[in-house]
Amino acid sequence: MDHRLLLNASALSPIMYSQYSRKISSKSTMDLTGEQLKKAETQLKRYLPSSLQVYGYLCFRNRSDQVRPDPVSVLVDRWPEFSVLICKPLCEQKGDLFKDILVFAKNNAILEETIRNSYVIDWTRYLCFGINSLHMGILTAVASEKYSLVTEHDSLVKKPFSLFFGSSGISIGSLDESHVALVNGTWKFGQSEVAVRMIRNMIANFPSCCVLDAEAKPVSWILTYASGSMGMLYTLPEHRGKGYAKVLVSRLAKRLHSAGYPVYCFIEDENMVSYGLFKKLGFNEADPSYRESWFQFNDL
Ligand SMILES: CC(C)(COP(=O)(O)OP(=O)(O)OC[C@H]1O[C@@H](n2cnc3c(N)ncnc32)[C@H](O)[C@@H]1OP(=O)(O)O)[C@@H](O)C(=O)NCCC(=O)NCCS
Repeated sequence: MDHRLLLNASALSPIMYSQYSRKISSKSTMDLTGEQLKKAETQLKRYLPSSLQVYGYLCFRNRSDQVRPDPVSVLVDRWPEFSVLICKPLCEQKGDLFKDILVFAKNNAILEETIRNSYVIDWTRYLCFGINSLHMGILTAVASEKYSLVTEHDSLVKKPFSLFFGSSGISIGSLDESHVALVNGTWKFGQSEVAVRMIRNMIANFPSCCVLDAEAKPVSWILTYASGSMGMLYTLPEHRGKGYAKVLVSRLAKRLHSAGYPVYCFIEDENMVSYGLFKKLGFNEADPSYRESWFQFNDL
């Protein structure tokens, strides 16, 4: 746990962590726990698909008997009627910095006010956000105008796709610890120590599927992020076009759906192969006007 953030929050922040939330009024901003997380999940469902990532995270968090959810502070601007909800991974080790801060907002002004608060967002460290593209102007404005320490600014925009269905007949397996390096070596954003930690965590704690060759080596795979989004889909070049990716997406989708989780993923606009693959499987763009953006600030 990031004790520095916790201590700061206790002293000054209007956004409170769980240990302190009992001391503030029900109208104050706070870190949700227990039944509040279940209530927040129900509320976020009304805002799908734009709430997909935070909703997906809460689905896992509220069913921790089935998966081991990432330790995250779920912060709201106020309770019970919140306008902003932020899932902020707790930083236990350096590798945890690589985990996305997921942001849901119904109100731009309140979002701006919330993320300006340095007890909510520690702008001096490496940050990676997953946020609806509608809000990215606010995010970049706050980052660049208020904090001189911004040294890097990359963004990535993907379309959300979702599905409720599924079935296939191929025999498949799940990834394990011995496959971390393989996944890291092929993931577009991998090949770093922090990515290794993140992939290890995903493989250990969230559903994954893979096609194994005769030597039990994965040749195609798909993982689940802590937000419930399917991702890191990859087939080794020599095995492409055999239908492996379609099978894996179908199987993982079925598994997630039958466990009561939302079934979705994000695809980059230019990835036409992947776009075609998901469309053929019955996925639809969740909302043509909605894009989720990932932003990184500062050095790792
Ligand atoms: C996208 C990817 C996972 C597809 O894997 P795959 O195992 O070859 O996919 P499948 O064999 O299940 O094929 C799915 C569909 O895509 C089509 N397809 C696969 N590769 C293609 C290519 N290079 N060009 C055109 N179409 C292609 C297949 O023909 C198939 O369509 P069909 O149902 O009409 O036959 C693979 O190309 C890959 O690893 N790409 C790099 C990583 C990536 O982009 N991941 C997706 C991130 S969202």
